[in-house]
Amino acid sequence: MGASGSGKTSMRSLIFSNNPASLTARLGATIDVEQNHVRFLGDLILNLWDCGGQDAFMDSYLTTQRSTIFQHVGVMIYVFDVETRGMSKDLEYYRECLEGLQQFSPDAAIFLLVHKMDLAREPKNTTFDKKKKELQEASGEASVTVFGTSIYDESLYKAWSSIVHTLIPNAAVLSKHLTTFAGACSATEVILFERTTFLVIATSSPLSPPGQSGSPVDDIDAHQLDPTRYERTSELIKAFKHSCSRVREEFHSLEMELHNFTAVLDEMTKNTYVLIIVHDPTIETAALKLNIRMARRKFE
Ligand code: GTP
Repeated sequence: MGASGSGKTSMRSLIFSNNPASLTARLGATIDVEQNHVRFLGDLILNLWDCGGQDAFMDSYLTTQRSTIFQHVGVMIYVFDVETRGMSKDLEYYRECLEGLQQFSPDAAIFLLVHKMDLAREPKNTTFDKKKKELQEASGEASVTVFGTSIYDESLYKAWSSIVHTLIPNAAVLSKHLTTFAGACSATEVILFERTTFLVIATSSPLSPPGQSGSPVDDIDAHQLDPTRYERTSELIKAFKHSCSRVREEFHSLEMELHNFTAVLDEMTKNTYVLIIVHDPTIETAALKLNIRMARRKFE
């Protein structure tokens, strides 16, 4: 949901159709609702509704189509253009959408994206904090998660990974298995990505209790991993896959041996890729690839 021109179809086209940001300028306005079905992890299908934001459509979603639009919603994502001149109207529609959601899907999660952050006139942090406060106030009692996003950097992947994560029923179990797998590989960290979108589905470490010597959490602290590493990896691999397709090659796997760490990215299951990060120089990439092969059945 969100006003016309706020960038909803652009983000969908980047994340789910693998188009580059430069092509989004050619997108026309969405007429009514466009539905996408994206297969995620075996039987899990993400049903994505892109609701055209022109006033006539918004009015119809809130009246005649109300029960169709707001029924069985898992997550509502409302997109706000950071430099919009029509914020009061945006907020009015947003509040009405919240009411629709409260009526038909009271358990739905709510994500608010302050989008086109690359166009923010003031420093990004100041702008985002101000907008976040404004949106939280407008949300009243509703619990909302706010992200600042732009199609021109990795911020979009951070937001969408978090959105998709809330929809995965067994995310905690996956995380636990990944932590066991990380231990078996002597890895600092293991990350599972969805195959087509390259969104992060689960990561190894978070479930390990901090403070235990040798736990992945300690290792991560010791190696001072960048907090934006997940979304940056998603963005980089997507760009690399795009380059591969331009020369009619298909992306299969990636191995990197640098002076202080080794990384292996390979298919884990039909719908996922796994990335293993190892800081121990004695661990061979061939051993990591063998471990992935052996773990496949467990993760299918
Ligand atoms: P409706 O279909 O009418 O509801 O609009 P929409 O919300 O789907 O907007 P759309 O995705 O068509 O984007 C409108 C314009 O915003 C396009 O020209 C995009 O290139 C541009 N745009 C989208 N995201 C960004 C962004 O993060 N930064 C900048 N600078 N421009 C963006």
